Amino acid sequence: MSRVAVLCGLGGALPATAVSNEELAEQLDTSDRWIRTRTGIGRRHVVAPGEATSDLAVAAGRDALASARRTGGEDAAGVDLVVLATSTPDRPCPATAPDVAHRLGLGTVPAFDVSAVCTGFVYALAAAASMITAGVAERALVIGADTFSTILDPADRTTRAIFGDGAGAVVLRAGGADEPGALLGFDLGSDGSGADLITVRAGGSRQRSTPGPPGDGDHFFTMDGRPVFTRAVLDMSRSSQALLDRIGWTPAEVDKVVAHQANIRILNAVGEQLGLEEKQIVANLDRVGNTVAASIPLALRDAAADGELRPGHRVLLTGFGGGLTWGSAALVWPALETG
Ligand code: COA
Repeated sequence: MSRVAVLCGLGGALPATAVSNEELAEQLDTSDRWIRTRTGIGRRHVVAPGEATSDLAVAAGRDALASARRTGGEDAAGVDLVVLATSTPDRPCPATAPDVAHRLGLGTVPAFDVSAVCTGFVYALAAAASMITAGVAERALVIGADTFSTILDPADRTTRAIFGDGAGAVVLRAGGADEPGALLGFDLGSDGSGADLITVRAGGSRQRSTPGPPGDGDHFFTMDGRPVFTRAVLDMSRSSQALLDRIGWTPAEVDKVVAHQANIRILNAVGEQLGLEEKQIVANLDRVGNTVAASIPLALRDAAADGELRPGHRVLLTGFGGGLTWGSAALVWPALETG
């Protein structure tokens, strides 16, 4: 039987402070009505001053390791690989994953960051699963964590309405393809011609750090919402269909689609493209907004906690983000003990 990666633990973490649409409307020219009808978002969580991405990643990682331990026994939490998906690392250099691994008490395991913005978790999952399949690792902790509130322009009502901070994590172990939780396949892609649609212009090697502050808000995150919306629908639908064709599932046979939580209208449009019913689409963005790399694992955690996601369900994950990047993964949901 071929060796594959099997999902065996799930966790997440949100910062303590939640900001409602009404609270945003006290600071910016926006309204609860606009945000709800145009995005489906009701509130988002934001980090406190001094709180960093690694703090959320450590909390989510600890939660996922506890879930793996409760599900599979003490040995199940002994991972030998950490992959962290983030576009808001604690510092541009070095990667944040080694610090997270150290603070989780995981010793000297290999640890690296993956940068694919909102597709980051699917890319990180594919990287870790491939390393398990290749025999490079036995058990991996895969975390998606972002704190976009730290890079948003405080005056930008659009991005501040959409993005929230958070972290989600899963544990993978080596196993067989017929086990519940086995990752059955991936579809990944990118299109760098759209690199400017979602970007932070300053701070890299192109627009270098200067002794003074960067000009014109160039260190803030910017997004061209309309084309991003269109590409998100197109690329998540295409990627999902390509993966379903490869593994031999029809859209009707999928119990739950856990897509990147960017906008309820994007989720509904993807559902329409694939011919899905509303009950197949998982949505938690009303409570957390778009949490970037944390979005898919946090949606999994919430759906599992609510009983919406149950053992035996056929699950399709699909994400889209800056780069542009996109990716999908499929699995049969395992029996998990979560916090
Ligand atoms: N409150 C009130 N009005 C707002 C607003 C807010 N928070 N944000 C934008 N608007 C305004 C715009 O300024 C514009 O006003 P104008 O017509 O006077 O210029 C109007 O609403 C319409 O803007 P538009 O950008 O066309 O709205 P939209 O319906 O496309 O929704 C997004 C904007 C950003 C919600 C939508 O494009 C989107 O979700 N895009 C994808 C975002 C995403 O998924 N990003 C992450 C990718 S991984």
